[in-house]
Amino acid sequence: MKVLLINGSPHKEGCTYTALNEIANSLNNEGIETNIFHIGNKPIQGCIACNACRSTGYCVFKDDLVNECIDLASQADGIIIGSPVYYAGPNGSLCALLDRMFYGKSYKYTYKPSAAIVSCRRGGASSSFDILNKYFTISNMPIVSSQYWNSVHGNTPEEVKQDKEGLQTMRTLGKNMAWLLKCIDNSKDIVPYPEKEQQIATNFIR
Ligand SMILES: Cc1cc2nc3c(=O)[nH]c(=O)nc-3n(C[C@H](O)[C@H](O)[C@H](O)COP(=O)(O)O)c2cc1C
Repeated sequence: MKVLLINGSPHKEGCTYTALNEIANSLNNEGIETNIFHIGNKPIQGCIACNACRSTGYCVFKDDLVNECIDLASQADGIIIGSPVYYAGPNGSLCALLDRMFYGKSYKYTYKPSAAIVSCRRGGASSSFDILNKYFTISNMPIVSSQYWNSVHGNTPEEVKQDKEGLQTMRTLGKNMAWLLKCIDNSKDIVPYPEKEQQIATNFIR
């Protein structure tokens, strides 16, 4: 089993990575493979609502890493998304990636355990955490929790390493995700996935 951890910071090995790495080590200790995917610091196009992905399963824009990320997430058993806090929300580039990764394609991630984590210097952790969790809760993805809301504090990796409670929260999250993945894997022949109804979309007009 493997978990994809998306590092939504422009810094490859910054604070967000430090938190994700703590989770990855915790998952590895439980026998789960991990892949930390860095979104980089190149521009990521926002969603243009063309709806082409609804028939193709991929985004029309092929010159950034969104389609690669879609494939990695489809192949993973669990997904964790990490972001630095920017003005009390997740990084804009990450949001652009997530909009295009989830819109019209969330069926690819159904029932995959998921979690969000955020890194901030001081404030805005909870509001950023809430925004990231919205991608999972509209996508039939079980959310894995930890012993606290998933955040670390620091402006440098060294500062994050001093946030002992934050790092413990990350390790606990890794263990909890490993446990849920094993539960799902062990019960897949006993407990069927829920039967889905035809989706109703009323757009609040009728
Ligand atoms: C544009 C920008 C906005 C930021 N806004 C916040 C904020 O609202 N609250 C906060 O505590 N830190 C804020 N920060 C600091 C980062 O969230 C913090 O340093 C984070 O841990 C960096 O993670 P990284 O090393 O993975 O990029 C901001 C940083 C930038 C560049």
